[in-house]
Amino acid sequence: MVQIVIATGNPGKRREYRALLADLPVVLVMPEELGLSVNVEESGTTFEENAVLKALAYARAAGMPALADDSGLEVEALGGFPGVHSARWSGPTDADRVNALLAKLEDVPWARRGARFVCVAALATPAGDVVTAAGTVEGRILFAPRGRGGFGYDPVFYVVEAGRSMAELAPDEKNRLSHRGRAARAVRPHIEALLNVNPPPPPA
Ligand code: IMP
Repeated sequence: MVQIVIATGNPGKRREYRALLADLPVVLVMPEELGLSVNVEESGTTFEENAVLKALAYARAAGMPALADDSGLEVEALGGFPGVHSARWSGPTDADRVNALLAKLEDVPWARRGARFVCVAALATPAGDVVTAAGTVEGRILFAPRGRGGFGYDPVFYVVEAGRSMAELAPDEKNRLSHRGRAARAVRPHIEALLNVNPPPPPA
């Protein structure tokens, strides 16, 4: 069975990719299972650049295909901030960043609290081939956290399509609607090609 290393230490992302790719004949390996600790400087200015940097670094280090994810929150009233800085711009914990975001938006009315989650998944091979796929989901930033599911900014991200916060959705609902679910479905044909599970029909 083909192995793919999941190029992230984020437990929330890992859990979601495990579910999103559960039906594929592939073993998803965590970096520490291979004794790997890869430190990638996320020096890119876009989600795509950072996803590619991470996927290539892990694929080379592991000697097997790697699936990386760079994702984040873009808030319209903040000109797209925190964007690629979503994981690091304030405090060490998710709760610190959620509180800092709510403070920044304190005086912003509901009508101007539009936001989107963006995810770029990158699949790289040790030889240096890489493909990317993106997904987004539209929403609004709530005035206070709601729900206990998911991770990161999920409790303050109101999913317009669902009428609930991302953290109020069951895991399979989140995966159906989320930026990561969409990116995973878009990258799936590339994983299948790697596994050769859907080979082209034999010549006539
Ligand atoms: P990355 O590891 O640089 O891609 O950081 C992504 C950051 O964006 C995470 O640490 C979260 O703060 C945020 N983020 C990405 N995806 C999600 C999600 O599905 N829910 C909530 N927050 C997310």
